[in-house]
Amino acid sequence: MDLSQALQVAVATADEAGALLRRGINERKVVSRKSSAVDLVTEHDQAAETLIGQRLGSAFPEHRLVTEEGTEFSSNGQAQGRYTWYIDPLDGTNNFAHGFPVFAVSIGLYEMGWPLLGVVYDPMRDESFSAVRGQGATLRTRDGSRPLQVSRETALLDSLLATGFPYDRHHSSDNNIAQLSAYLKAARGIRRAGAAALDLAYVAAGRLDGYWEYKLNSWDVAAGACLVLEAGGSITNADGTPWQIAPTVAMIASNGHIHEAMSAVLRSVDGNSHG
Ligand code: IPD
Ligand code: CA
Ligand code: CA
Repeated sequence: MDLSQALQVAVATADEAGALLRRGINERKVVSRKSSAVDLVTEHDQAAETLIGQRLGSAFPEHRLVTEEGTEFSSNGQAQGRYTWYIDPLDGTNNFAHGFPVFAVSIGLYEMGWPLLGVVYDPMRDESFSAVRGQGATLRTRDGSRPLQVSRETALLDSLLATGFPYDRHHSSDNNIAQLSAYLKAARGIRRAGAAALDLAYVAAGRLDGYWEYKLNSWDVAAGACLVLEAGGSITNADGTPWQIAPTVAMIASNGHIHEAMSAVLRSVDGNSHG
């Protein structure tokens, strides 16, 4: 596997899909509902997914593609191999649908469950976060590129954290509200920006000290987890056990220094049995 070629293809593909979304944000959007009234999909999610699937499918026909909108890509229909691309063509669909300019394209490549590379592209700020296993993480902006490093904060009370809430929160009591309340008392601030891939990219960049969330999907976190690990951070499952990519994810990602304190907060919340 030529990882530098794979990275090049992934970065170029994320740029291209991001440009499509950037053009789309000011257009009239056709919005449909998926699993719940707040779980949305637009034509732009689908167009970006088609573009990404075509680019990756033709460059890597033997790789498996796991995509949020479940588009079938004929070239990869039978692929069973050791390599899987996890693709969220538009992370932050609610934001996008409202014209709130916080969303990203997220593309991660895994080998047998372990991250090989990740790219998170924020088209509104033209920021491309990328990482390759063993080679660190990088942020490309209009002013050039620089290595990414997690923050050095050691006190949870001085930390800025991010989270998100599941799409079934209107009827499930397993909704992250008790955990939010506990972290609000334990940390400096909590942000809910609405795009998990960017939350993780910001942990990697040291803009956030930590992040936790339940009921995520593999494509929400695949690329961002690679960024955090390569920028020197830590990731565990929300119950503190070792993390590996899975169809459903409950995770803590941090700069490492505050990880135990973040885990302790979740342990302290009654009924910490989320999946
Ligand atoms: C969602 C966003 C949000 C997170 C949700 C995700 P989508 O992804 O990442 O921040 O809280 O859990 O499903 O649906 O916008 O791709
Ligand atoms: Ca997502
Ligand atoms: Ca999405």
